[in-house]
Amino acid sequence: MLILILESTCDETAAAVVDDQLRVLGSVVASQVELHKRFHGIVPEIAARAHVERILPVIDETLRRAECTLADVDAIAVANTPGLAGSLIVGVVAAKTLALALDIPLVAVNHLHAHVYACRVHARRDVFPCVGLVVSGGHTSLYECRGPLDFRILGGTIDDAAGEAFDKVASMLRLSYPGGPAISQAALDGDGRAYALPRSFINDDDRLQFSFSGLKTAVRYQIAPPGEDFRNATLTPQQVADLAASFQEAVVDCLVAKSLLAVKKTGLLRLCVGGGVAANRRLRERLDQECERAGYDLIVAPPELCTDNAVMGAVALERLRAGHVEQLDLDVAPGLVRDYT
Ligand code: KG4
Ligand code: ZN
Repeated sequence: MLILILESTCDETAAAVVDDQLRVLGSVVASQVELHKRFHGIVPEIAARAHVERILPVIDETLRRAECTLADVDAIAVANTPGLAGSLIVGVVAAKTLALALDIPLVAVNHLHAHVYACRVHARRDVFPCVGLVVSGGHTSLYECRGPLDFRILGGTIDDAAGEAFDKVASMLRLSYPGGPAISQAALDGDGRAYALPRSFINDDDRLQFSFSGLKTAVRYQIAPPGEDFRNATLTPQQVADLAASFQEAVVDCLVAKSLLAVKKTGLLRLCVGGGVAANRRLRERLDQECERAGYDLIVAPPELCTDNAVMGAVALERLRAGHVEQLDLDVAPGLVRDYT
């Protein structure tokens, strides 16, 4: 049984062929980083157009790598929520067209649930029940995951996502885009205690929430005092490294504290982490240390399954088995940036 999975929620055009044993036969991710770099962020119109240009070559190349043809595919899956409307539409229309032409089932994927499922694909063992942490460019959410299809939101960010903060702080420090890898690289030469930066809600054990906008503003005021344009400030390479390290440390402290609190509160004893920011080395190191100390089972997706990809959409196999098949009226659901309740 082979499933062809499409992913176009944001700025990566991706496809994968996975079998019912979760073996990955082929996977392709076409990144748009070069197109969005000069804007220091994703431009939705550019993203949508690039998906249109890339989706068919990406599917072709995926099938070639999987050494199969469309005739071998038994079902089509596509991430239809959440994401950028124009980007989502490209994947959903392609998936519907293939499902209709090949007369095979169409399965919808929730992109955030898929980020957690990346841990299941990677671990090659059952990882449910668990607490799921999704840390990406658009979301920072904690879930109680009773099963692969049973996710309940425990909390999330009340303003910016962690990845968004990485991207904006990198831009303020004149580091490259995307900001996550650039900050983590710069931080290698810095002192994470050089600047005292805020860690919202960290001592509030009643809240499973995050807030990163105040942290972003605090970095801005470290670059230049209020009233002065931070864009005119000149920082030494050491100041940039120290600010990058201090910022990264503050984000990591919050993510680790709330994830462990969620594991403790739910009593689930297992934490699965996915999303682009989960590729961060310092976050992975700290999660390892703290989960080991607390005796929790930790599964973090490997970096290539943290950033957007189609393989994680293999959660569609679980939906297919449970009989969740879509009709051709399947629509996109861009959703809210704040998905907590
Ligand atoms: O999951 P993802 O690829 O796309 C979304 O669904 O948003 O996440 C992209 C985000 C970007 O904000 C990027 O800066 C961040 O993940 N990111 C990182 C790292 N690699 C990517 N953040 C921190 N450290 C990294 N190494
Ligand atoms: Zn994502």
